[in-house]
Order: sequence, then structure tokens, then C-alpha cells
Amino acid sequence: MRAVNDRIEVALPGERSYPILLGNGLLGTPGLLDPYTRNQALVVTNAVVSGLYLEAVRRSLVSVDQVDIAEIGDGETFKTLDTYAAVLDALVDKRHNRTTTVIALGGGVVGDVAGFVAATYQRGVGLVQIPTTLLALVDSSVGGKTAVNHPAGKNLIGAFYQPRAVVADVGMLETLPEREFRAGLAEVVKYGVIADQAFFQWLESHIDDVLTRDPACLVHAVRRSCEIKAEVVADDEREQGRRVILNFGHTFGHAIEAVTGYERFLHGEAVAAGMIMAMDLSVRLGRSDDRDRRRVRRLIERCGLLTEALEVDEDALLDAMGMDKKVMDGRLRLIVCDGIGSVSVTSDVPEQTLKGAISHSR
Ligand SMILES: NC(=O)c1ccc[n+]([C@@H]2O[C@H](COP(=O)([O-])OP(=O)(O)OC[C@H]3O[C@@H](n4cnc5c(N)ncnc54)[C@H](O)[C@@H]3O)[C@@H](O)[C@H]2O)c1
Repeated sequence: MRAVNDRIEVALPGERSYPILLGNGLLGTPGLLDPYTRNQALVVTNAVVSGLYLEAVRRSLVSVDQVDIAEIGDGETFKTLDTYAAVLDALVDKRHNRTTTVIALGGGVVGDVAGFVAATYQRGVGLVQIPTTLLALVDSSVGGKTAVNHPAGKNLIGAFYQPRAVVADVGMLETLPEREFRAGLAEVVKYGVIADQAFFQWLESHIDDVLTRDPACLVHAVRRSCEIKAEVVADDEREQGRRVILNFGHTFGHAIEAVTGYERFLHGEAVAAGMIMAMDLSVRLGRSDDRDRRRVRRLIERCGLLTEALEVDEDALLDAMGMDKKVMDGRLRLIVCDGIGSVSVTSDVPEQTLKGAISHSR
């Protein structure tokens, strides 16, 4: 299949709206990227992904005169200011001007670094996101959050900066390691829980086909996830209000990652455990019924995401949650589920209730 199967619009004010081009096997289509680029481009990627997909990116760029490549290290430890500076150096060394386009080819690490480079080089140049992990397809490539880490914390230095286009090609998931794929599913499940009961139900019926990476099922799962994210972002681009619902399960999840040194669990594994805790909390607060809690837990289990992340020490977790970015004016704000397909924000959670939700989720 060599066609753009679908197009989702991220509707933002002024000229900042952009399309998500969605399909299976569309990267490599001659000229696919030409409408979003001019005379120069810098592809930011890593050695693993470039070996797999760089040639397809080149084929997608027909009318760009100068295409340069900046390879960064593979993994979260390279999401640093040093890496960011090295990519800027590549742009300067190769004399890229203000009309250049930064093309992010990779997972969330590449996308976040490349996005921050594009946001700041010459006060902002073009950006195209080509996400290659499931997490990046359904989450990090859409919405304009870019960042690098600081030794004091994750994503401490960054900017909101929207791409000109996102190429969401599920064909690239064929080569993704199984553990990374399953971790990305946590975010897909999240979209069902926060915004679309029918999509959650579809996932319950089709999860086996999703797990075998059936292309038609992947296109549907990515489409619905991106539509929901696009709609929330269009409503609240800078997370002043509603966008916070995308953090369902994440306050618990970030705390699990922090307590375990960001190494033991993948982000999606921590978020999956976090969603189980958030569902338990929602039942304790009388917002969801126990059947909803069991359905979410069961789907997460079928995704292979019932992990030891649920067993992290509860006191350490509570401490770490106090440090999470979602604390505002000293009060912990949590997203709770009001029945599958709907969530809201609460800041009135007694510590004992929170503790109970964590320990009962094991
Ligand atoms: N900007 C946002 O809104 C946002 C949202 C969520 C997460 N993030 C960030 O995303 C990052 C995590 O991203 P990730 O989970 O994509 O991890 P990642 O970028 O580290 O990629 C995971 C691994 O998969 C490999 N890989 C990527 N695509 C592949 C493919 N198609 N085939 C084979 N191997 C492939 C990578 O080389 C890497 O080893 C974190 O830094 C997180 O903070 C950002």
C-alpha cells in the first residue's frame, strides 16, 4: 500500500494547524515530504532507526537540494543539552538557513530533541515528525511538546513547538521490539479510558489482532488515538486546562519511574501501572464502579503490561508524587475516571485513600 490512507487535522489558530498523514507503508512515497520542506533539511535520527528507514525518508524528499543527517545516541540518557547542542552544531556547520526543515525520524527521544532544536534554531525553523515507535505515533509526535532532560529532572528544558506535519506510518512498527510495542499500547488504552468508551470496547475485542500488529487494526488504533490527542490539544494547546486529562495514570506513572531511577520500567509500563492505581482511586472516590476498574485492569493485562511496577513501595511513591509537575499550589491534582470514556481532575484526595489505591492495586 503506497498511499496516504487518511489525514487528521490538528486544528490550531493561525498558520499552526497541521496534518497527521496516516497509513501503512506510506514513508518512501516519492515527494511525500515535499509540501512540508523547502531547499534544505536536516534529518535527526539514531543509528538503529537510520539503518532501517533513512533511505525511505530520502525517497520521500524529491525537491530538497540539501539533505543532511545528524545521528544522536540511542536512548533516554542522550536526551540532553549536549545532544541538543551537537544537533545545532550540525545545522550551523552545514550552513542551514531559516528556511531549513528539521525532520525527526525516531521515537520520542529523537522527536523531543529534534523538536527543541527546530523551536530554537534561528528562532524557529520548520519541523516534520516521523515517529517510529508506537508511543511516538500516538503521543509524543503530536501536540508540540519538545524538551531535553536536566540532571535535576526530566523534560526541564523545552518549548511548545508544533510541527508542520506528522507522518504516522504504522508500517514502521514491524521492526519495533515487542517490549517497546506493548509499552506504547498503554497510551492507546489511555485514550479509550479518558475519552471514548466505544474505542475502549473496540480494543477489548481486537487486542489480539493489535498484538500481532495487523496493519488495519494498527491504523485504526493509531487513528483514534491521534484524533483524541489532536482534539484535546486543539482545545488547550499549552496545558492551561483540559489537556491535563492526557495525564491520566501519569502522576502515579512518573512517580514509579522516579522511584525506580528511570531504568527499570519503560514509560508505558509505568503508566499502565499508574492507570490501574488511578482506576482503583476512582472507585474509592465513588467516581467509577468496580466493573470499570476490572475491565481496565484486564485490558492492561492482555497487553502484557501487568508488571512489577505495581509493587513499588507505597511510601516512596507518595513522596515522589508530591514532587510531580502536576502539583499546583502545593496540592496534588489527579485525574480520575468517571466511568470508562470520561475523566475529570480532582485535588481533594485524602492521603489514606491514595495509599489504599496504591497498595490495593498490587
Ligand atoms: N513530547 C511529548 O509529548 C512526549 C510524550 C510522551 C513521551 N515523550 C518522551 O518520549 C520518550 C520515549 O519515547 P519512546 O518510548 O519512543 O522511546 P525511544 O525514543 O527511546 O525509542 C525506544 C527504542 O526503540 C528503538 N526504535 C525506535 N523505532 C524503532 C523501529 N521502528 N524499529 C526498531 N527499533 C526502533 C529506538 O532506537 C529505541 O532504542 C521519553 O523521552 C519521553 O519523555 C514525549
